[in-house]
Amino acid sequence: MAKEAGKSKGENLAQVDPSLSTLHPSLIPVIAIDGPSASGKGTVAQRVANQLGYHYLDSGALYRLVALAARQRGISWQDAPALAALTQTLNIQFDNGGILLDGTDVSEDVRTEQTGKGASEVAVHPEVRAALLDLQHSFRRLPGLVADGRDMASVVFPDAQTKIYLTASAETRAERRYKQLLEKGMQADFGEILRDLQQRDARDSQRSTAPLQQCRDASLLETDHMTIEDAVHFVINAYELQKK
Ligand code: C5P
Repeated sequence: MAKEAGKSKGENLAQVDPSLSTLHPSLIPVIAIDGPSASGKGTVAQRVANQLGYHYLDSGALYRLVALAARQRGISWQDAPALAALTQTLNIQFDNGGILLDGTDVSEDVRTEQTGKGASEVAVHPEVRAALLDLQHSFRRLPGLVADGRDMASVVFPDAQTKIYLTASAETRAERRYKQLLEKGMQADFGEILRDLQQRDARDSQRSTAPLQQCRDASLLETDHMTIEDAVHFVINAYELQKK
């Protein structure tokens, strides 16, 4: 999912000084947060964006939308050329926290485990990744962007001002997801969740194109024993420090 995270201070600035609206994209700050599934990076990234009044890009939602649209149109998650062609024609709208695909609200459908599995299958194809690149770049707007995913720091925004690799052990992540499902009143099997996460980690980190990895210039943020607030504080602090 990608959406406006808050009131855009920079856009106000650009209204005052029109020259700012023609800023080269590389001058617009980006905080790139990468990490494995269920690490909590989405929650942290969204809160950081809110606090700074920056835009927010949830790149995983784009891969989920490709998987969902393919399923609806009978396209196999293995058919790279057809998926790439489909990606070019997707009609996606982000509307007040909701996601519309061809005018239909798919906010719930993109979040299912099935769509998540499909996303990690379509994401192995270099053609699909390339087809999503321009769309991801278009989120880099004033006053800044917080982007989360797997390859934000390595491929999509290699010149990001701040790069964070946010992770936690597979057991901690499985436990968090298990609790979330129970809180929603859903049935959950801890062992199955852990196995799914480990399979997803393996697929994401072993693929040849844009694998999940900690870049050499990214700060490691291990959240096993941290609250969300601590993690948000860490990211904002890292960003403020690099500005000095
Ligand atoms: O982050 P989320 O779980 O929504 O992402 C779903 C899947 O999309 C991931 O398992 C991964 O395979 C893929 N993905 C990716 N690159 C990104 C974001 C997500 O390959 N930048």
